[in-house]
Amino acid sequence: MPRDAEPQTVRLSDYLPPDWLVDTVHLDVRLHPTATRVIARLALRPNPAGREGSPIVLDGDDLMLKSVALDGRPLAGTAYAETRSSLTIFAPPQRPVVLEIETLIDPSANTKLMGLYRSSGTYCTQCEAEGFRRITYFPDRPDVLAVYTTRIEAEQAEAPVLLGNGNLQESGTVEGTTRHYAIWHDPWPKPCYLFALVGGKLDRITEPYLTATGKKVELGIYVEPGKAGRAGYAMDALKRSMRWDEEAFGCEYDLDVFNIVAVADFNMGAMENKSLNIFNDKYVLASPETATDADYAHIEGIIAHEYFHNWTGNRITCRDWFQLCLKEGLTVFRDQEFSSDQRSRPVKRIADVRLLKSHQFAEDSGPLAHPVRPTAYREINNFYTATVYEKGAEVVRMLKTLLGEEGFRAGMDLYFDRHDGQAATIEQFLACFADANGADLTQFALWYAQSGTPELDVRGTWDEATRSFRLDVEQKLPPTPGQSDKQPMVIPLALGLVGPDGTDLPLNLDDGSNTERGVLVVSQRKHSFVFRDVDVRPVPSLNRGFAAPVKLTSNLSTPDLVFLARHDSDPFNRFDATQSIALAYLVAATRAQQAGASAPSAAPLVEALEATLTDPSLDPAFVAQVLSLPSETDIAREIGRDVDPDAIHAARRALRGTLGEALRPELETAYSRLRPAGVYAPDATSAGGRALRNAGLDLLAATGSGADIARVVTHFETADNMTDRFSALSVLAHGAPAEREAALAAFYERFKGDPLVVDKWLALQAQIAEPGTLERVRGLTGHTAFAMTNPNRVRALIGTFSAANQTQFHRADGDGYRFVADTVLALDPRNPQLAARLLGAFKSWRALEIRRRTLAETELRRVAETSGLSPDVADIVARTLA
Ligand code: TRP
Ligand code: ZN
Repeated sequence: MPRDAEPQTVRLSDYLPPDWLVDTVHLDVRLHPTATRVIARLALRPNPAGREGSPIVLDGDDLMLKSVALDGRPLAGTAYAETRSSLTIFAPPQRPVVLEIETLIDPSANTKLMGLYRSSGTYCTQCEAEGFRRITYFPDRPDVLAVYTTRIEAEQAEAPVLLGNGNLQESGTVEGTTRHYAIWHDPWPKPCYLFALVGGKLDRITEPYLTATGKKVELGIYVEPGKAGRAGYAMDALKRSMRWDEEAFGCEYDLDVFNIVAVADFNMGAMENKSLNIFNDKYVLASPETATDADYAHIEGIIAHEYFHNWTGNRITCRDWFQLCLKEGLTVFRDQEFSSDQRSRPVKRIADVRLLKSHQFAEDSGPLAHPVRPTAYREINNFYTATVYEKGAEVVRMLKTLLGEEGFRAGMDLYFDRHDGQAATIEQFLACFADANGADLTQFALWYAQSGTPELDVRGTWDEATRSFRLDVEQKLPPTPGQSDKQPMVIPLALGLVGPDGTDLPLNLDDGSNTERGVLVVSQRKHSFVFRDVDVRPVPSLNRGFAAPVKLTSNLSTPDLVFLARHDSDPFNRFDATQSIALAYLVAATRAQQAGASAPSAAPLVEALEATLTDPSLDPAFVAQVLSLPSETDIAREIGRDVDPDAIHAARRALRGTLGEALRPELETAYSRLRPAGVYAPDATSAGGRALRNAGLDLLAATGSGADIARVVTHFETADNMTDRFSALSVLAHGAPAEREAALAAFYERFKGDPLVVDKWLALQAQIAEPGTLERVRGLTGHTAFAMTNPNRVRALIGTFSAANQTQFHRADGDGYRFVADTVLALDPRNPQLAARLLGAFKSWRALEIRRRTLAETELRRVAETSGLSPDVADIVARTLA
C-alpha cells in the first residue's frame, strides 16, 4: 500500500467545504474480538458548495478493505485507490450515489483507544476527534452531517447488551446461530465524531424522566457487572442536569432514550456521543466508602458537561476542529454555571479559578501557548487543552459580564435558533450576541485569536480635595509563540470601591455615567477612569469574581489586602486578597530560603486567616478554600524564572507549620465544632464541613507535634467515608514518615479489589516530596495493581508524579525527567494520546534554574530524536523545544 507523506500542518485559512456530502449512513457491525466486520452503506451527493467534478475521498486508519461497490456494482480495482489513510473513488458520477464499503477491524489490538476497542471485554467506541475513520472509510470531518442507522450484531453470551445512537428500532436473534442483533436509528443528523456503539455484559440502572413539555425519556446507566449500586449519584446528577438545562437555557432533550456507559479504559473524562455518552468509570461510580467529596463534585460536573453537549456540540456542532472551543468552552461555561447553582457559587468560582490558574495560565505562559481558537495544528488530539476548555469558558463568561444576564440569554437564544442543525463557527456564535444586543464585538473577538494571559496593572489614587478616585489601568500583552505584537483587548473590569466600614461606595464616573453592574470596560492600552463623590479613601476591590482571566497587579498595600480579606462583599475577592498576601509571602520566603536568610513575618497572613476562621457568617467550604495556600506551581509561576522547586517546597512547608501553630485554637475549634452527625451525605454543605475540618487536621499536623499526628491517625482509623479516610491518609503520607507505611498498607489491604481507589493510593505515593519517591514510583510500576495499559493507572501514578510532585519530578539530578521521558517513549507506540499528555509535564521547563533546565532539555531532545514517534508526541516535543 502506498505510504503517506509526513503528517501535514492543517490551517484554518485553508478551510474548504466538503466536495461530497453524506445524507444517510447504514452501518452493519458484526462484533468479533479480533475480526469485526463493518459494512457501511453511504448515500453521498456532490456538495453544491464544493469543487465540481471532485473524486470521493474518504479517510481511513488501520482498516482492512474487503470490498467497495458503487450503486450496487463492485468497483474495478482501477476505479479506486487505497492508501494507509484514505480511500479515493476516481471519477464518480456527479449525482447522488450509494457507496458500500466492507472493512475488517481488530478491536482487541486497538490499544490507542480510538475507534472500536475493548475495555475489560466490553466493545466500545471513541470517535472524537478522528476515530470514526478507524471504524470505516468516511469523510471524517465535523461539517459532514448524516442520519445514522446502525445494526450491531454479536454473540449473545459475549455481548448481551447492544447499544447505539438514537432510539432502538428492532432487535432479535440471528436464526441458526448463537448471535443476536439490535438496530438503532438516530434521526438527528450528526457528524461522525458523535457516533458510538457499545456491546458487552453490563448491569444497568434506569429511571424515567419527564421533560418540561411532558415527553417521557428513559434514562439508563450501564456499568460493569456488580457495580450498579455505585451509579445512583450519576443518575441523580443527570436528572438535575436535564432539568437545569430546561430552566436556564430552555434546552429540552430530544430523543426517547438517553444512555451512559462507564468503561474502565478511556483516554479522557467522557464523551458526548448522541444519546450514548461513554464515560471513564471514574466519573460515574461513587459510594461513600470509595469516593471523596471531590469525586462526587467531578461526577456531577462531567455528567452535566456531557449532557449539555446535546445542544452545544451536537445539535449545533463545529464546522472544523479549529472551532473546538465553540462547543467545549461554551459547554464548560454551562457546566460551571450548573454546579454553581447546585452548590455554592463562590466556592465553585474559587475552584474553577484555581484550576484555570494552575493549568491554563501555566500553559499560556510557556511554549505550548496557543489561542482559544488555534489557527494551525499538526495533531488535533493535542488541542484538547486547558486553553480551549477553561479559557474558552472564561471568554463566554466575559460575554455574559459585558452583555448582562438578559443580553447574554438573548444571544444564546438566537444562537440556538439560527444555527440548530448546523456546523458553526466562532464568528457565527459571536454574531448572535452582536445581533441580539446591537453590540460590536469586533475587538472582543481578539480573545479567541490572541494567546497569552493579559497583564492588567491598576493604580488607584484618591484625591481628598476633589473627592475623586482615579484608576489608571494599563494592559500588557506579553509575546507568545508566533505572536509578538498584540492589539489591546476588551477587558471587563468588575470592581467595587470599599469604604472604611466595609460597604461599597456608589460608582459614579465623572462623565456622569453610572457603571453598569460595577463593570468598567477597559479597551485601550492605557485607560483611565475617574469616580466622583468619593468622600473617604476607598479600597478598590478589583476584578471581582475574577470576571476577566488576567494577571492583575495593583498598588494595593498589604494592609489594604488584609482589609479586603475581612470586609469585601465579593466573596471571591475576599478569598483572593488572602491568596495574594500568601503568595507574596511565599515568594519572599522562597528567596529568603535560597539566600539562607530568615523567613519574613507571616503576621498579616495570620491576621487575615484568623479573621476568616472566626467569622461565623462564612460558609465552611469557603473558609477551607481560604485556608488552602497557593500551590507550589502557583509560586513557581509567580517567581517566573530560575525556579528552584526545592526552595519553594521548603518555604511552603515551613509556612504551613507556622500557620498550624499560630491558628491552633481556631483550627482546633473548627475541628471539633464540625464533627459530623449522622450518616455521610455528599451534598455541598456536608462536604464543606468536612473540607474545613480536614484542612484544620492538615495544618495542625504540619506543626509535627505528636498529639496532632495522633489525631490524624485516629481520624484515619475511625473514618466512615472516603473523604475523611483519604484526607487523613494524605496527611500521614506527606507529613508523618513514621506512621506512613502502616497506614498505606492498611489502606491498600482494604481497597485492593477496587481499581479506582487503588488509583488514589498510587497517586498519593507519587506525590510524596522526598528523595525516595522516584524509587517508590518505579517500584509501583511493577506492582500487581498497576497496568501500563490502563490510562487511569498511568495518570494516577506517573501523571501525578510529573504534574504534582514538583521537588521529585524536578530532582536536581535529572532522574525524574529521565523516568518520565522513558515512560513517554514506552507508552507512545501503544497509546500516543496518553503519551503526549504525559509529556505536557515539561511545559514550564524554560522557567527552571539553569541546572534543571539543562537536564530537562536533554531529556526532551532525547525524546525528539527518537525515530518513529507518533504525530502526537512529535508535535508536543517539537513545540515544547521551539
Ligand atoms: N468531547 C469530550 C468532552 O466532553 C472530550 C473527549 C473525550 C475527547 N474523549 C476524547 C477528545 C478523545 C479527544 C479524544 O470534552
Ligand atoms: Zn466537552
